[in-house]
Amino acid sequence: MTHPRSRAYLLCPPTYFEVNYRINPWMDPTTPVDTELAGKQWQRLRETLAELGHTIHELPPAPDLPDMVYAANGGFVLDGIAYGARFRHPQRAAEADHHLRWYEQQGWRTHQPAEVNEGEGDFAWTGEVILAGYGFRTDPAAHREVQEVFGRPVLSLQLVDPRFYHLDTALAVLREGDAAQLAYYPGAFSPGSQRVLHRLFPNAVVADEVDAAAFGLNLVSDGERVVLNAEASGMAAKLAAAGYQPMPVELSELKKGGGSVKCCILELRR
Ligand code: ARG
Repeated sequence: MTHPRSRAYLLCPPTYFEVNYRINPWMDPTTPVDTELAGKQWQRLRETLAELGHTIHELPPAPDLPDMVYAANGGFVLDGIAYGARFRHPQRAAEADHHLRWYEQQGWRTHQPAEVNEGEGDFAWTGEVILAGYGFRTDPAAHREVQEVFGRPVLSLQLVDPRFYHLDTALAVLREGDAAQLAYYPGAFSPGSQRVLHRLFPNAVVADEVDAAAFGLNLVSDGERVVLNAEASGMAAKLAAAGYQPMPVELSELKKGGGSVKCCILELRR
C-alpha cells in the first residue's frame, strides 16, 4: 500500500447553500435546509482534512450560487493545469468563472473548456488514466477535449442511473498508481462500462446500492485514510476490510443538494 501523501484541496464554504431548484433526484426545494448546520458540518469536514495533514485552499462563495459548495464540479486539475467547467444547467453556469479566476490568481495554467463538463464530478485520476463519466452532465466531447489538454488517456464510462448522475457519486479512486484500486457501484454503469471496470480494475471494492445511496462512494482517499459520509456505515466496513482507515463525517444537510464529501473537495494536482 502506498503511503499517504499530503494533498492540496480546494473547498468552498456553504455560506449561501440552499435547495431552491431541482437538477438531480435528491434535490427537493420543499424540504427545509439548515444552512447553519450545513456550515458546521462542512467546517468539520475541513478540519478532518487538515488533521490528516492536507493543505486546504478556500474559494470565496458567491450569493445566488447555492451549489457552489460542491467545489469538485468547478474544474479538473492535473499536471499543474486547471481545466475549467462548463455546467450543464444554467443555475450553476456562473460558478465556472469563479473557479477559473481563482486558478488564474493562484498561478495555475488554465484551460477554458469548449465542451460541457462538470470537472471532478465526472473526471477521476487513477495515477495512470483519467476515468470520465457521461450520460447526465458531462458531454463525451469533453472527454476527448480532456485527453488533448492533458495528453493522458481518458477512459469513458457511461452512467445510467439518474441518482448517480456524476461519476463521483458512483466511483472513487482509493489508491492511485499502476495497481490503482477503485471502489464503485456497478449498477450505476451501463453493462459495457461495468465489463470495462471489471476487466481493468479486478481488485476493486465493489459497493452495493445501499452503499451508493448513502453516498458511500462520494469519498476522498489519500491511499490510506478514506473520508466518507457517516451514513455509509456498510461502505466503511468494506473499506476497513480492504485495509483502509475510514474517517466518517456527518454531511446530512449537503446530501439534500445531492452531494457529499467528494463533491465538496477538488484536488489541486501540481
Ligand atoms: N446540486 C448539485 C448538482 O446537482 C450537486 C453536485 C454534487 N457534486 C458532485 N460532485 N457530485 O449539480
